[in-house]
Amino acid sequence: MAFLRWILRLLTLLIVSHSVCVLFYYTPNTHSSREVMRDTLQRLHCAKLRRKFSIITDTKSLNMKTFTQELGDFLNCPYKPNMTEQELNRLSLQFLCNATGSLFHTKRNTAVNQSIPYETSATQTYTMNAAIHSMLPEDFPWSGRRLGRCAVVGSGGILKNSSCGREIDSADFVIRFNLALINDSDVGLKTDLITVNPTQIRREFNNMEQNPDPLVERVSVYGNASLAIPAFAYTFCTGLSIRTLKVLHPIRPQQPVVFFSPIYLRTLDRLWKGRGLKSVRLSSGFLLINTALELCEDVHVYGFWPFDTDLQDNPIPYHYYDQLRPHPYMHKMSEEFVRLLQLHSQGALTLHLQPCPSETH
Ligand SMILES: *[C@@H]1O[C@H](CO)[C@@H](O)[C@H](O)[C@H]1NC(C)=O
Ligand SMILES: *[C@@H]1O[C@H](CO)[C@@H](O)[C@H](O)[C@H]1NC(C)=O
Ligand SMILES: *[C@@H]1O[C@H](CO)[C@@H](O)[C@H](O)[C@H]1NC(C)=O
Ligand SMILES: *[C@@H]1O[C@H](CO)[C@@H](O)[C@H](O)[C@H]1NC(C)=O
Ligand SMILES: *[C@@H]1O[C@H](CO)[C@@H](O)[C@H](O)[C@H]1NC(C)=O
Ligand SMILES: *[C@@H]1O[C@H](CO)[C@@H](O)[C@H](O)[C@H]1NC(C)=O
Repeated sequence: MAFLRWILRLLTLLIVSHSVCVLFYYTPNTHSSREVMRDTLQRLHCAKLRRKFSIITDTKSLNMKTFTQELGDFLNCPYKPNMTEQELNRLSLQFLCNATGSLFHTKRNTAVNQSIPYETSATQTYTMNAAIHSMLPEDFPWSGRRLGRCAVVGSGGILKNSSCGREIDSADFVIRFNLALINDSDVGLKTDLITVNPTQIRREFNNMEQNPDPLVERVSVYGNASLAIPAFAYTFCTGLSIRTLKVLHPIRPQQPVVFFSPIYLRTLDRLWKGRGLKSVRLSSGFLLINTALELCEDVHVYGFWPFDTDLQDNPIPYHYYDQLRPHPYMHKMSEEFVRLLQLHSQGALTLHLQPCPSETH
């Protein structure tokens, strides 16, 4: 009886994973049927991992050893994008948060004398004046059209020695963070949007009015990429962001300094809190992956791996270019990571956690 039940279960599993036909097609000799058996088991394993990772929502119960092993296996499974899932994500993000029309303040979506709220304060506001308004960009860099393949490049040490530069540079639109260093071999050079952290401005370029050269040199590396600052996240951010805009606007007019809309940041934050993501604020990485899910046809995510060892258990640095860590209170990187893994399993985006295929083959 128990045996029969076991057989039934196995049959159901085979049918569920659509592999049963393959089993019947190829049975002329034992060699190929063994191969088919291995194939079938492999598919079952992949389907099981896909199910497991598509419902994962927190890291508390995670055993790192089995997690990385299973994740490694899963990443070697064939990847299937799910257009329906991508379209559903795009529509709900556009409806609820609207990066398309309100990711940044532009001359079009913001009026002179408009009162701008703060992301993190219910009482304070900033009144947009004519001088600052005249330095806002006319429109978004994508101005209404949908972006094609986007690469969102985090700063994870997992990118070291990855050889992913070529692949990243071949994307239509590349997003980076916190003025991260770039180079052709591992992380690529192409940049269309890069975030600037006000704390970093204060730490490294506080003397920018007297001597703009270090800041100008640092940002020139990214060509004409937009420099995105969360000017209205906290009140301390506004002065630093406006000073940066005033210094760079006359010197590098082709490289817009843009301010994130606090309303966009706030609605996205609420959306994910509503989905049970526990963090004080979303990291800028997670934030712009969501933006890409709305704006891009196809989202590829690199360098998002908040753990100390890679999938083969080798130690890796936290960032590929320095050892700074995020504030443990502010962001919950590992909680965000499992949400990305969930999106990957659902076919909504592609996570890249392994070295990129080399050109020589
Ligand atoms: C694709 O996503 C949709 C919406 O979540 C889901 O109903 C469907 O089963 C998925 N398709 C596949 C092949 O996984
Ligand atoms: C998004 O914002 C733009 C500009 O403010 C607006 O025209 C558009 O209707 C908004 N879209 C949605 C879905 O709310
Ligand atoms: C903005 O406010 C100032 C001062 O109240 C006023 O002089 C100016 O006309 C206003 N500008 C616009 C475009 O409303
Ligand atoms: C950057 O902008 C300048 C001025 O608009 C333009 O001449 C140049 O070709 C642009 N460079 C790139 C790499 O797009
Ligand atoms: C990258 O490669 C270099 C040279 O092969 C090696 O010394 C270094 O340990 C590697 N770093 C990582 C993080 O894999
Ligand atoms: C590219 O950057 C990575 C990470 O900083 C570094 O390990 C690598 O040596 C750099 N490669 C080149 C060609 O500069």
